[in-house]
Amino acid sequence: MHEAEPSEAVPYYEDMAPGTGALPPRAWWAVSDARRVSLGGDWRFRLSPTAQARDDSFAQPGYDAAGWDELPVPSHWPLHGHERPAYTNIRYPFPLDPPHVPTENPTGDHLRMFDLPDDWPGGAAVLRFDGVDSCARVWLNGTELGTFKGSRLPVEFEVGELLRPRGNVLAVRVHQWSSGSYLEDQDMWWLPGIFREVTLIERPEGAVTDFFVHCGYDHATGNGTLRVDCEPGGTVTVPELDLDIPTGEQVVVAVEPWTAELPRLYDAELATEGERIPLRIGFRSVAVEDGVLKVNGRRILFRGVNRHEFDPDHGRVLDQETMRDDLLLMKRHNINAVRTSHYPPHPAFLDLCDELGMWVVDECDLETHGFQEIGWRGNPVADERWTPALLDRAARMVERDKNHPSVVMWSLGNECGTGAGLSAMASWIRDRDPARPIHYEGDLSCADTDVYSRMYANHAESELIGRRAELPLADAELDKRRRDMPFLLCEYAHAMGNGPGGLSEYQRIFETYERCQGGFVWEWIDHGLRRRTADGTAYYAYGGDFGEELHDGNFVCDGLVFPDRTPSPGLVEYKKVIEPVRIEGDPERGLVTVVNRHDFADLSGLAFSWSYEVEGVAGDGGRFTVPPTGPGESALLDLPPMPRSPGPVEAHWTVRAVLAEDTAWAPAGHEVAWTQFAAADRAVGGQGTVSRAHRGAAHSPRPADDGTVVLGPGTFDAATGTLRRLGGARVHGPRLDVWRAPTDNDRGMPWHHETRLDLRWRESGLHRMQHRVVGVAVGGDTLTVTTRVAPAAADRALRTVCTWSATGDRLRLDVAVTPEGEWRLPLPRLGVRLGLSPGLESVEWYGGGPGEAYPDSRAAARIGRWRSSVDALQTPYVRPQENGARAEVRWAELRGGDGSGVRIEGAPAFWLTARPWSTEALDAAEHTYDLVRSDTLWVHLDHALHGLGSASCGPEVLPAHRLDAAPAAFSFTFVPLDATNGPERPEAPAPSDQEQQ
Ligand code: GAL
Repeated sequence: MHEAEPSEAVPYYEDMAPGTGALPPRAWWAVSDARRVSLGGDWRFRLSPTAQARDDSFAQPGYDAAGWDELPVPSHWPLHGHERPAYTNIRYPFPLDPPHVPTENPTGDHLRMFDLPDDWPGGAAVLRFDGVDSCARVWLNGTELGTFKGSRLPVEFEVGELLRPRGNVLAVRVHQWSSGSYLEDQDMWWLPGIFREVTLIERPEGAVTDFFVHCGYDHATGNGTLRVDCEPGGTVTVPELDLDIPTGEQVVVAVEPWTAELPRLYDAELATEGERIPLRIGFRSVAVEDGVLKVNGRRILFRGVNRHEFDPDHGRVLDQETMRDDLLLMKRHNINAVRTSHYPPHPAFLDLCDELGMWVVDECDLETHGFQEIGWRGNPVADERWTPALLDRAARMVERDKNHPSVVMWSLGNECGTGAGLSAMASWIRDRDPARPIHYEGDLSCADTDVYSRMYANHAESELIGRRAELPLADAELDKRRRDMPFLLCEYAHAMGNGPGGLSEYQRIFETYERCQGGFVWEWIDHGLRRRTADGTAYYAYGGDFGEELHDGNFVCDGLVFPDRTPSPGLVEYKKVIEPVRIEGDPERGLVTVVNRHDFADLSGLAFSWSYEVEGVAGDGGRFTVPPTGPGESALLDLPPMPRSPGPVEAHWTVRAVLAEDTAWAPAGHEVAWTQFAAADRAVGGQGTVSRAHRGAAHSPRPADDGTVVLGPGTFDAATGTLRRLGGARVHGPRLDVWRAPTDNDRGMPWHHETRLDLRWRESGLHRMQHRVVGVAVGGDTLTVTTRVAPAAADRALRTVCTWSATGDRLRLDVAVTPEGEWRLPLPRLGVRLGLSPGLESVEWYGGGPGEAYPDSRAAARIGRWRSSVDALQTPYVRPQENGARAEVRWAELRGGDGSGVRIEGAPAFWLTARPWSTEALDAAEHTYDLVRSDTLWVHLDHALHGLGSASCGPEVLPAHRLDAAPAAFSFTFVPLDATNGPERPEAPAPSDQEQQ
């Protein structure tokens, strides 16, 4: 039992101080000619339930650890069968009792024996830990080296004198909880362990202790400045620039600058008496000028993401390949910026950012969000006893990462409220590195920062800020200062589940207001941990799946890529919305405007081409020659003369910009930007539908003896008017449907009831609408079925009139919906759903594709002919929810293996969703393994859908994308397809069809 007050003696893991025995922090470099030994691999491991359960005799040479387990290093022990992961967002999973931690404090003893290489020279050496969560005590050959905290920050100990040629014993005791845990309340899994490399590095006499590359670029002269400060002194050579200069000396030389778009690096070498270090130098200057953040004199626009380090099997243990994959995937999706939420990443990641080109906001390993739960009482950043720990963290980040051109801003941390500790960090950083602006979001006064940063400000507020017309701060001086700052959204567009919606509207604001310099989508990756059910089915686990006492469910899965890094539809949308080249067609005038929205690059790296598509089938195509077009400039291109179309059909132009040559991040031909626009001669737009020529005469409904009514290919239940058969196939429905399995964004923020649209939907019964048949009328050429669709316990309804008619093999349904009573909530969807044979597994459609789209996330859908299996139409969100809609579908054909099936045409175009389970099953599912194929293929033909928004943490659906109940009319035509009907080919409709549409 500890009765100690913080000022009294507490064990080192509860001490607010950062640690003992470490060397001063310094730059990180991947290689030099000094030898190094990786101490990764299999270590011996023993877990204890408390920090003091065992003595430290294990650290002594000769200790017999034969009975211990083995554990790979780097790793998190809960991912290797010891204890379990736990997830909380804001709340600490232990009592707020700083700096004390629970007595139940899982403690992992790690042991590693190692020999030195035969040619190890002896002398000084350091032992470096790149990341240990959350607190460690270290011994080498029985001698204690010290203790440290600061999970995502490096620490080094001098060990030369302790090393032996053979049989060295490295012992590390790691505590899951420490005073440091109070500073590390990031929204992520709690995962203790030695999760980054452990390395022994030779320090020869005269080796580099530390160095600082100061590089600038003067856009007015085209000159770069270079000075490398180094301890001890030495020389810097840059062969390409013919430079060979002493450290400490500044030179000015004509260079090509470094930017995220054109990441020009110069190979260099730093040499001191004892060590040679290869450097890669990028010349660039960052400044806030005239209220704008500029690099090399130009305003930049962040097309960013927040990146946590995550792997579904290894947690925050990432290999180089995964880091590179992340960056390649980002670059290929037009992303140009990363905020390293909420801690400095693996140091090698920043080398890759330098190389591939990425603006980086490097964030300190600091978050105390859980103190908000108690009104920020006792917040460490406002308690000076913690200031040394905060300064230690700031220094360890800045010293480690200061030599990266990609790092353009330092961030003090995330969600720590306000306090003098943050100011102390800011002033230390400013003093050490005046060349980079400082970011922090949590203090609205911006007292310590150079930029005004917010998270999840909605569109309207962002626009107000863009006009520098936001509500004032109480303090006039601070207000003036802040109003003069550039603005960025360090988090926006919460990418949880299906979404985010509203990206295009944000981008318009960023491109309109100079002050709005873009943002960082929250976040890059879903942190779902890969697990298997008893029968071996793989799935992703989230909060609560490990029996946590407190947890925040699937809030940990809110990324643009799935846990295995498969892009989600949200990423595909983001790529389109942020494309750095805007292409606009003007078919009336036969022109295409290309706007170069790069900040630095001209268009010479891109090849532009056009194609002309008739009914979604590409016909003629060719290339454009684009004149030299600098950043911010536009070019006008002439469309070729319109190709002859086979009659009055719907046609589109598609113009694409692809990489002209291979780059470091994608091959030649990779698509960067595109646009599509309707050809001028036919104003069909998004609503157009081209149907087949009517075949045969109109039918009249024929009542039969068996209680059915036959109308063309349709057989109906005479009493209810329900369609039972289409051609030879059984069908269920169609009937009016308004429900969707709520998305994470529909579910809002669990802790804010008023954001929970799903609950209000359920309260008003939208998931249990009843259908009362008001009347079935057979008359003339039609069968008319009137229904009143309404929830129990309410008097509001959707009166629905379905009018059926048939011509030849075509069965047409006209639906008219009239809301009755008071409808305050938006409808999730408005359309019909029908059940078909589960054998119809392949889908071809003409409309938006290839991927999923929703009203406020549809920029990436292009009109074409697409094919997919039903399975591939499903988007496997980690927590199942509404997904898979395809936009603007003119027609779709669903077929079985023998080619038979059904064709559905819509007037106007419709949203198509087909899934092997019902909405009810999707709604009930908590994990992907809950979704079991049913004996029906459920097909939704929607006239309209409610948008997605990003209310899981941010704005709700914008008014333009809200689906309010209102009178609506829409129709579908069903055509049975038999096995002999070949694949659909574009067909010129008869002129009479045109008139009917
Ligand atoms: C922010 C926070 C992030 C994450 C996000 C919601 O408040 O900075 O770490 O929690 O909300 O997913």
